[in-house]
Amino acid sequence: MSNLRQERVLSVHHWTDSLFSFKATRDPSFRFQSGQFVMIGLEVAGKPLLRAYSMASAYYDDTLEFFSIKVQDGPLTSRLQHLKEGDTILVGRKPVGTLLLDNLKPGRHLYLLGTGTGLAPFLSLIRDPEVYERFDKVILTHTCRVTAELAYRDLITRELPENELIGEEVRRKLIYYPTVTREPFHTQGRITDLIREGRIFTDVGLPPLNPEDDRLMLCGSPSMLRDAKALLEERGFEEGSQAKAGHYVIEKAFVEQ
Ligand code: A2P
Repeated sequence: MSNLRQERVLSVHHWTDSLFSFKATRDPSFRFQSGQFVMIGLEVAGKPLLRAYSMASAYYDDTLEFFSIKVQDGPLTSRLQHLKEGDTILVGRKPVGTLLLDNLKPGRHLYLLGTGTGLAPFLSLIRDPEVYERFDKVILTHTCRVTAELAYRDLITRELPENELIGEEVRRKLIYYPTVTREPFHTQGRITDLIREGRIFTDVGLPPLNPEDDRLMLCGSPSMLRDAKALLEERGFEEGSQAKAGHYVIEKAFVEQ
């Protein structure tokens, strides 16, 4: 297990029956870029059982944070959901991923489109001062089925604007746009529909998407990514990668078990 480190769980927070977050110790030599993910998991029957998880904590935090679903018969999350303070988790040594600022061409507005636990990598990005150096506005959208699943609302709307390091930039530049699809909420609907219909742009006071000014990062289910990608390609947006910066980048919200 030399490619893995053991870290200790510091705290666990259950948002709903199906969503929870946990914090763990961070080896000082573990470095990552905002938006990246790493393999994490547990030792089960003497072997590591691992899944990809995006770092939800900032690259400069002393601890690591992860945001997860709970699947009752999922090999890993059925176990992980019972984590308690003091338990040991395994964390890979090599963070990777495409949701990187460097994979995007320069632009004015950065849209971060997350559904479900696809919010996680954006929690790291919105705490990175460089995001605010590169963009005039950062629009964080989070779409869930029900309001109770809109995790981290307090962090985004109360704590970050008061944060010593980035509070001022957050107040000037970060726009939080939560939407809910399966119960009444002030902003209802899938993010793809809100973009197509133009409602999001009226709501946040920005012009409709255009490849000149707008950059996007997408993280959600395969079907959300497929639909959002089609919508962007229709509008002339090109996908970016490490090899060639583009107008948008994509990552699957990994943990489905
Ligand atoms: P909906 O309730 O209309 O399916 P899930 O929990 O299935 O991952 O979904 C998380 C959120 O993502 C839900 O609000 C869901 O809306 C939305 N969603 C699911 N599929 C798509 C898609 N193809 N395009 C946009 N949003 C989607």
